[in-house]
Amino acid sequence: MAIVISIANQKGGVAKTTSCLNIGAALGQAGYKTLLVDFDPQSSLTKILNRENQTIRYVGDWLQNRCVFTDVVQRSPHENLDYLPSHIHLRGDEMDMQKDFINGNEFLSIKLQEVGAEYDFVLIDTLPSLSLLCINALFASQFVLIPSKMDYVSIGGLSQLTRLIADVKKKKPIEILGVFSTIYRTGVKRQERCYNELKAIFPSHVLRAKIRINAAIEEAAYEGLPVTYLDSQCRGAQDYHELTKEILQRCPLKKKAVPVA
Ligand SMILES: Nc1ncnc2c1ncn2[C@@H]1O[C@H](COP(=O)(O)OP(=O)(O)OP(=O)(O)O)[C@@H](O)[C@H]1O
Ligand SMILES: [Mg+2]
Repeated sequence: MAIVISIANQKGGVAKTTSCLNIGAALGQAGYKTLLVDFDPQSSLTKILNRENQTIRYVGDWLQNRCVFTDVVQRSPHENLDYLPSHIHLRGDEMDMQKDFINGNEFLSIKLQEVGAEYDFVLIDTLPSLSLLCINALFASQFVLIPSKMDYVSIGGLSQLTRLIADVKKKKPIEILGVFSTIYRTGVKRQERCYNELKAIFPSHVLRAKIRINAAIEEAAYEGLPVTYLDSQCRGAQDYHELTKEILQRCPLKKKAVPVA
């Protein structure tokens, strides 16, 4: 079964989507078959990967059994990287989930069990809210990765997310795999102080790798690419490579990656 990881933080603009794409691409390049799930009605990940803006099925169609997995899954041109697109209509699906008092938290979890054997990793890009879609992502995941910017508001808001994870954990196993710093400005004392504060709050969870600000990351997204496919030597590609190595060290891997020829 795939290792399923939600990338979550209810704060907007902390690089959830960017991290989902770039960690996913790094896992794919390392030989792990990876599925990205765009679980945000804003559909940012889909807008990056579906450059031609083709009309395609979206994850809500699959959740609600309006189509089968093979109709919804998209094969990206990148190594070992598939994705499930999103659409603004996922908001409507969330309202349907709310009406289902028995399975409302577990729509995604139930469906992912159908396809978990096909992948080594499933990464879920969540929306900037602790709504039912986020809860569904957590119920479907064994692990959570938390990207955070290094400012006091961002760090202060993490307690709401960790409380939600603790609530979910009362019902099913889930662990924080790592908390990592994004859009990091090196040489800025305040950022360093925030990073140390984060380590004090999460003594065993803060990852060493920091994702520094790098224009190539934005440029790559604009071009519809993970940063490593734009420039494998740039800071952004190196940082995501280091971060992914650390994530792999923390994962209970049963299978070694099959290097791509
Ligand atoms: N390391 C970085 N350097 C420069 N720009 C970055 C970096 N990481 C992310 N960005 C840019 O910051 C913006 C926000 O990133 P992203 O969309 O990934 O955040 P998000 O948490 O998914 O946002 P939302 O909460 O709206 O879903 C994007 O324009 C992205 O290209
Ligand atoms: Mg996003």
